[in-house]
Amino acid sequence: MGSTRNGSPLLLMILSAMFLLPLHVSSTSAERSTFIVHMDKSFMPKAFTTHHHWYSSIIDSIKSVESTSSNGHHSTPSHVYTYDHAFHGFSAVLSKDELESLKNSPGFVSSYSDRQATIDTTHTTDFLSLNPATGLWPASNYGKDVIVGVIDTGVWPESESFKDDGMTEIPSRWKGICEAGQEFNSSMCNLKLIGARSFNKGVVAANPNITFSMNSTSDTEGHGTHTSSTAAGNYVDGASFFGYAAGTARGVAPRARVAMYKVIWDQFRYASDVLAGMDQAVADGVDVISISMGFDQTPLYEDPIAIASFGAMENGVLVSSSAGNYGPELGLLHNGIPWVLTVAAGSIDRWFAGTVTLGNGLTITGWSMFPASALVENYPIIYNTTISACNSSELWSEAPFSILICDNTVPFFTQIKQVSMSNQPAAIFISDDPQIFEFNIFPYPGVVISPKDAPTLINYAQTVVQPTASIKFQQTFVGTKAAPAVATYTSRGPSPSYPGILKPDVMAPGTLVLASWIPNGYSASIGSNIVLSSDYVTISGTSMACPHASGIAALLKGAHPEWSPAAIRSAMMTTASPIDNTFNQIRDIGLGYEIATPLAMGSGQVDPNRANDPGLIYDAASQDYVNLLCSMNFTKNQILTITRSNSYSCLNTSSDLNYPSFIALYTNTTGMVVQTFQRTVTNVGAGATSYTANVIAPTFSVVSVSPDTLVFGKTHEKQNYSLTISYMGDKNRSVTFGSLTWIEENEGHMVRSPIVVSPIINFW
Ligand SMILES: *[C@@H]1O[C@H](CO)[C@@H](O)[C@H](O)[C@H]1NC(C)=O
Ligand SMILES: *[C@@H]1O[C@H](CO)[C@@H](O)[C@H](O)[C@H]1NC(C)=O
Ligand SMILES: *[C@@H]1O[C@H](CO)[C@@H](O)[C@H](O)[C@H]1NC(C)=O
Ligand SMILES: *[C@@H]1O[C@H](CO)[C@@H](O)[C@H](O)[C@H]1NC(C)=O
Ligand SMILES: *[C@@H]1O[C@H](CO)[C@@H](O)[C@H](O)[C@H]1NC(C)=O
Ligand SMILES: *[C@@H]1O[C@H](CO)[C@@H](O)[C@H](O)[C@H]1NC(C)=O
Ligand SMILES: *[C@@H]1O[C@H](CO)[C@@H](O)[C@H](O)[C@H]1NC(C)=O
Ligand SMILES: *[C@@H]1O[C@H](CO)[C@@H](O)[C@H](O)[C@H]1NC(C)=O
Ligand SMILES: *[C@@H]1O[C@H](CO)[C@@H](O)[C@H](O)[C@H]1NC(C)=O
Ligand SMILES: *[C@@H]1O[C@H](CO)[C@@H](O)[C@H](O)[C@H]1NC(C)=O
Repeated sequence: MGSTRNGSPLLLMILSAMFLLPLHVSSTSAERSTFIVHMDKSFMPKAFTTHHHWYSSIIDSIKSVESTSSNGHHSTPSHVYTYDHAFHGFSAVLSKDELESLKNSPGFVSSYSDRQATIDTTHTTDFLSLNPATGLWPASNYGKDVIVGVIDTGVWPESESFKDDGMTEIPSRWKGICEAGQEFNSSMCNLKLIGARSFNKGVVAANPNITFSMNSTSDTEGHGTHTSSTAAGNYVDGASFFGYAAGTARGVAPRARVAMYKVIWDQFRYASDVLAGMDQAVADGVDVISISMGFDQTPLYEDPIAIASFGAMENGVLVSSSAGNYGPELGLLHNGIPWVLTVAAGSIDRWFAGTVTLGNGLTITGWSMFPASALVENYPIIYNTTISACNSSELWSEAPFSILICDNTVPFFTQIKQVSMSNQPAAIFISDDPQIFEFNIFPYPGVVISPKDAPTLINYAQTVVQPTASIKFQQTFVGTKAAPAVATYTSRGPSPSYPGILKPDVMAPGTLVLASWIPNGYSASIGSNIVLSSDYVTISGTSMACPHASGIAALLKGAHPEWSPAAIRSAMMTTASPIDNTFNQIRDIGLGYEIATPLAMGSGQVDPNRANDPGLIYDAASQDYVNLLCSMNFTKNQILTITRSNSYSCLNTSSDLNYPSFIALYTNTTGMVVQTFQRTVTNVGAGATSYTANVIAPTFSVVSVSPDTLVFGKTHEKQNYSLTISYMGDKNRSVTFGSLTWIEENEGHMVRSPIVVSPIINFW
């Protein structure tokens, strides 16, 4: 949830959303579905340097035998993922015939259908390659016995996502309760939703006469229901957002438990309540805290999330938080706290479509989220340049009954508002403004088509005697490219509260995520008067990305109960991917599709299966964070506010935390900056091994690593190294970046850390 910078958090959540790709998405034919293919990598021909290329070439070869599909589009099989760790192979969207020809390829071992893959609410679990057959889901038993505490607006306990089918007994260490209150009966908790508590003394203290619209943990906004079901909701068949994203909804950790701590009350959000809720969560015995909100322009020693999460960290509880929705400007991120996980938001490989079929049979696939199955069949279609700006509902109402074509001279959101006040049945909009694809707001029957497809449409409308068109709504395609991309709205580093640690840490799916919602809240609208409700909605924000990371952290905790919060974060960061599903560097939608920097996405997109087996860990304990705090020019009391204990000492002050990323900051446009970092890595792989450093230095910098080979005699052994960034200056004061990857012998683990050189931005 955003802070109150621009009005209510709810409004921000709904409105500040979204982007996807401005790509024209070629339609995936209905007969195709995703298959996971196991390959024997010893068959890889020498001509290929990587498995990616080998697999892509195999898929390309079946593509060449594919003919043009009936809808006029050249449809092709598409490569979804390459798997190179848990097993060798790839997943691809294929037809049955394509799969048959693939089986003749040398090296083919086996294949099976990815059951949930093609259509899923929480398709994000497929996008993140979570898989019942292998990797983190089975390794963690789907998060069984891990408890996720969610700090939010409450929860709607009757949601299908919180039913407890298939859940086992609550772990005996659980100390939480199910608090009764208005419309919230203590029997509403179960083996899935195991705790519910409310914290509003801070609100009441500041507003003594307040009456709450709902004085209990019950959710009246929807946000907490959405985030908690994203992290750990149960399986729910037949979920969708008005027909879009239809499929089985599930949380990232579908067998983990949820405990809700309600701290937001009719948009009031007091630090004291947040602190109390987080503290109680730790006392109750949660393993992971998920908090999709933040406090802006607040120093660490006044930030309740920083303070409460320090105590959580001391107790072995990982706190996962959202970066905020104030992108793409640099330096407005919140929750840039050294001892929490800070999560940025990206897009998903999914496209919500409307399909236009012209009278001549030609089909154009565009974007639509119109929340109903409107009947638009063989209606006349007109393109009239006098009114095609679609900037006047009156002018359009005067036109004969028809589907109007709206050109891209006026913003889409202005146009759709105007046309929804007219008496016409539908419209086709021409735009590639990526913001359209991050919104779920689509109050009028229409389709947004790419400018690339516009000449075909306009030519048809202008040259045919009685041009007509039909539109089909509620279509969902997955496997679209390129994804992920950094969302426009996601807040960027450096962290104003402590720029010396690179934030955010990782990126997770945040755009148009489908999860549970409250049944009596706003979900969508038609025209200006009809409001629709739905038990499942697709919404966008870093609030939606955070619970994905929280769910992954819960799975990692289940698979590795001995890992510290820093170890879990390290595993997520060093295995995150800076590469999208086209095998190119992840792009930033908010910056015109430039290559995304780590200030936008941290180490990259989380990769849960790889995080389960990271090879090396950068660990840190409470005293390490204290040593960092001691270097921050805080007073003794400011430090004590965070540590809450005098037992820590400032004897070993150090601004150099053992963190799995590097950021060097400069103030001077021409001066040279040299900064050296000390790091200690722990071998969590199996037995003796060695790693070699591979450095990609940022432009204008030289980076050296010493030693550049690390030899480990056994598991759990630690080794030290130092990394020095020598930045030579840059007249443009640009943000430059590179990476250090420790590569294990025999093509083993790759342990990657981003390196950033950034100007200091004067934030507050
Ligand atoms: C909310 O309910 C609790 C009991 O559940 C009660 O003690 C409290 O006074 C109520 N607060 C308000 C503001 O209604
Ligand atoms: C809770 O609800 C159940 C079923 O609606 C009811 O049987 C029970 O008496 C209620 N318990 C309390 C404490 O109100
Ligand atoms: C609260 O209500 C009481 C009685 O209605 C009134 O006297 C008092 O001024 C109110 N306080 C505030 C802060 O509004
Ligand atoms: C285009 O729209 C304008 C305004 O409604 C109308 O006056 C004009 O006749 C239309 N042109 C055609 C070719 O229909
Ligand atoms: C759209 O209409 C409004 C109000 O009539 C006008 O102010 C604005 O300039 C128009 N914009 C365009 C691009 O035609
Ligand atoms: C450290 O804090 C003191 C007192 O708060 C302040 O005067 C000084 O400028 C600060 N130094 C730096 C480097 O921020
Ligand atoms: C400070 O560092 C030294 C040497 O590494 C260590 O022996 C000592 O225990 C540390 N002291 C504290 C308070 O961390
Ligand atoms: C900035 O760079 C210039 C030229 O290298 C140098 O003389 C100056 O001392 C630097 N200033 C700071 C604050 O580092
Ligand atoms: C790594 O560095 C720490 C602290 O600087 C030191 O105590 C430790 O002995 C070093 N470990 C190795 C293997 O050199
Ligand atoms: C600085 O920016 C300008 C304009 O964007 C560009 O032409 C130039 O190449 C940049 N210089 C460096 C050293 O990157």
